[in-house]
Amino acid sequence: MDDTNREAVRTLAIDIGGTGLKAAILDAQGEMISERVRVLTPRPATPEAVIGALGPLVEPLRPFDRASVGFPGVVVEDTVRTAPNLDGDWGGVALGAELHRLLGVPVHVANDADIQGYGAIEGRGVELVVTLGTGVGSALFLDGRLVPNLELGHHRFRKGQTYEEQLGDAARRRAGNRKWNRRLNKAIRHLRGCFNFRVLYIGGGNSKHVELELPEDTRLVRNVRGITGGIALWR
Ligand code: BGC
Repeated sequence: MDDTNREAVRTLAIDIGGTGLKAAILDAQGEMISERVRVLTPRPATPEAVIGALGPLVEPLRPFDRASVGFPGVVVEDTVRTAPNLDGDWGGVALGAELHRLLGVPVHVANDADIQGYGAIEGRGVELVVTLGTGVGSALFLDGRLVPNLELGHHRFRKGQTYEEQLGDAARRRAGNRKWNRRLNKAIRHLRGCFNFRVLYIGGGNSKHVELELPEDTRLVRNVRGITGGIALWR
């Protein structure tokens, strides 16, 4: 590919969420150059149903040369290990290969919080990313390099419950936004005590419900980074 073509490369970025499937086209710099399309995640969210819904979702975004996919679970070498907020047996699904067959372009798949992180970080020191959505995602970076497969969401936070059980969307609906914000405040303190991050980024669809006065080392990230961060999988 010569330099002119490299500039023109169109990356399809897909964000598979527990609630919605989203997609858009990115230019070579990772800027979004199409509208963002979205459908509800089919329920039950089995591999067949989700993969089946992606074809028609992205068809109007053609042409594209390659695809980056954010997935709400552990992904190793484009293959799914876990999918706590989807249904059916996702363990071992070679999602990269399946989507390559479906879309006809090279595909990379990564954890959704990792992708948000790539879209948000500055690349300096310890940077921690927490995403608040259906589930609670996490990504840790040191000098811009990802420490892979951090799954904070499923670790003990308080009252015998995990971060996800206390701060996921089901918990937010049950507890209400005020209580959920107070819990988030505690979680930020715990995480600072554990990771001593330089910056903590809070992203995900539910970051719009954050009403805290955030400490200086903590920043909100626009959820669109879950799409635009996808460009990093091709660096
Ligand atoms: C999963 C993470 C994912 C997060 C957000 C959690 O339940 O374990 O891998 O990043 O949800 O989707």
